Amino acid sequence: MKTLFLASLASLNFLTAAAPAGCDFSLVGFAKDNPIGPTTGGQGGKTIKVTSPAELAAAVQGNEPAIIIAQGAFNLTSRLKVGSNKSLIGAGSGALITGSGITINSNTNVIIRNLAIRNILDNDGITIQNSTRVWIDHNEFSSDLDHGPDHYDGQCDIVRASDWITVSWNYFHDHWKSSLVGNSDALRDVDSGHLHVTYHHNYWRHEGTRGPAGRFGHQHVFNNLYEDFLYQAIHSRSDNQVLVEGNVFRGNTREALSTYGLVIPDDSPNTSPEGDWELDGFANLGAKNDWGTATINITQVGNFTRAPYRYKLTPLKQVVKVVKAGVGLGKI
Ligand SMILES: *[C@@H]1O[C@H](CO)[C@@H](O)[C@H](O)[C@H]1NC(C)=O
Ligand SMILES: *[C@@H]1O[C@H](CO)[C@@H](O)[C@H](O)[C@H]1NC(C)=O
Ligand SMILES: *[C@@H]1O[C@H](CO)[C@@H](O)[C@H](O)[C@H]1NC(C)=O
Ligand SMILES: *[C@@H]1O[C@H](CO)[C@@H](O)[C@H](O)[C@H]1NC(C)=O
Ligand SMILES: *[C@@H]1O[C@H](CO)[C@@H](O)[C@H](O)[C@H]1NC(C)=O
Repeated sequence: MKTLFLASLASLNFLTAAAPAGCDFSLVGFAKDNPIGPTTGGQGGKTIKVTSPAELAAAVQGNEPAIIIAQGAFNLTSRLKVGSNKSLIGAGSGALITGSGITINSNTNVIIRNLAIRNILDNDGITIQNSTRVWIDHNEFSSDLDHGPDHYDGQCDIVRASDWITVSWNYFHDHWKSSLVGNSDALRDVDSGHLHVTYHHNYWRHEGTRGPAGRFGHQHVFNNLYEDFLYQAIHSRSDNQVLVEGNVFRGNTREALSTYGLVIPDDSPNTSPEGDWELDGFANLGAKNDWGTATINITQVGNFTRAPYRYKLTPLKQVVKVVKAGVGLGKI
């Protein structure tokens, strides 16, 4: 018995040898377990290596399965529009995307990993619109906080009835508005029943708002590390539901979680200097969080009490170490 047990442990270690201790880099959450099937990206398709923006733009078109390996730096002159059944993966220590960001619009089954997405000015770093089954994993998003909330847009925004998405092991830093789920309180009819997103093991450092901010959907937010998330991290409004568990908040983080409907002026001063009023959202707390010195404001407890899939929580005391060791570029 003992020998058998050790033998199986050894083979397990061999299989997961690439990930640092305590890290499981396999797909977990809504992009895996959902009613329409797991996200597989370009699996089964051909592998295409690209080194120029033109090659990259051509390779991600259409619905044929393909695994696109991007090598080097890509200064894009227009949005990179990624089709269905694609895996877009940065080679080695990561590919660099600047100039324009990435759009996944009205498509399904897309994986994006190991990209550095920096200083995108034309729109979000990544926009997922009217699309299903997307896995955003092991990327690094950054710019600066020097120009106010509206100079850059979001880092990874998920809008217009998009669904069954996992955002994992990303390093989001030095940016104001991180990740918006549902981009208007006027889109109740479009978005309700959609916008199921799992955020796990992301490292958010020196950010302003939206880590994430959701409307009308369901987001499971677990085992993320927030450090100096200055104004408001998790925001659930317009009847949105969040399940928040096993997260750690550190440094100068004002508000870790709010379901209060007001879109704070620190988020969107462009529309009203007092902020914008919306209906409140809902929040449920699962496994214990470490809020640090941040406040929480739960005005409505919801019914999203457990995630409808299997996942393994990292023990709270190990979250800082595991997240820092596992996120970002060059890890997969
Ligand atoms: C990308 O190209 C634009 C336009 O030519 C240029 O202004 C910018 O400096 C370039 N960015 C990088 C990172 O090379
Ligand atoms: C790729 O995506 C389309 C949806 O755009 C889907 O209908 C099709 O079955 C997929 N093709 C393969 C080979 O998986
Ligand atoms: C959403 O995507 C589907 C394809 O999955 C398409 O048929 C539909 O027209 C799109 N809707 C909008 C509003 O873009
Ligand atoms: C929480 O939200 C309520 C509104 O429901 C607001 O009046 C209150 O000031 C907030 N409390 C904290 C601690 O932020
Ligand atoms: C969960 O709560 C929402 C908001 O109150 C409600 O609309 C929905 O019907 C509830 N779902 C279940 C399954 O009870």
